Amino acid sequence: MSLQLNRSSFGDQKNAGNVLTKKEANQLLDDWVKNGRLQLHMKQVAHLMKCWAAEKEGLNEADQWRWEMAGLLHDADWDQWPELHCKKIIEELEARNIDPEIIRAIASHGPNHFGVHPETKMDKMLFAFDELSGLTHAYSLMRPEGYAGMELKGIKKRFKEKAFAANVNREEIIDAMNRAGVELEAIMQFIIERQGEAK
Ligand SMILES: [Fe+2]
Repeated sequence: MSLQLNRSSFGDQKNAGNVLTKKEANQLLDDWVKNGRLQLHMKQVAHLMKCWAAEKEGLNEADQWRWEMAGLLHDADWDQWPELHCKKIIEELEARNIDPEIIRAIASHGPNHFGVHPETKMDKMLFAFDELSGLTHAYSLMRPEGYAGMELKGIKKRFKEKAFAANVNREEIIDAMNRAGVELEAIMQFIIERQGEAK
């Protein structure tokens, strides 16, 4: 099954700045994603994107929401239409005249699957957070205290254990960090500190 998008341009520049309201985005999430675990993953990535936009990029609230929205909807079609993964949500957001930067970030969140390379900082951070967020969540589930008291050395150890969360592609994570120009440990620490806040 190929998920290659075979396109390089997404959305329309005249729609720059157009977003869904939080209510509309959450409605889309609820309508499309019935799997609670996947919903939580998307909310976690959304929270990380928002926090990073605010704290590391110094972006205003409108831009923070654009980053958050990309995170919130990046896997929206995975639950019900895995064979159309990425294509379906992109076309939905294009039909709703959404900001092309948000659509592009979603299109490039798996360059090895969709064939679209992350270019903007929003693109790169979405790719960087996606898999590592999942690995960190898996680690939280095996700790009685969840995220509380989680340490960097713990997640580094799990990262090196290939059998732990074996479906998480470590090479892809390293690739994502290199593309984003951020240190793996810095992102791990950021996720440890912020991911537990997402509900
Ligand atoms: Fe994801």
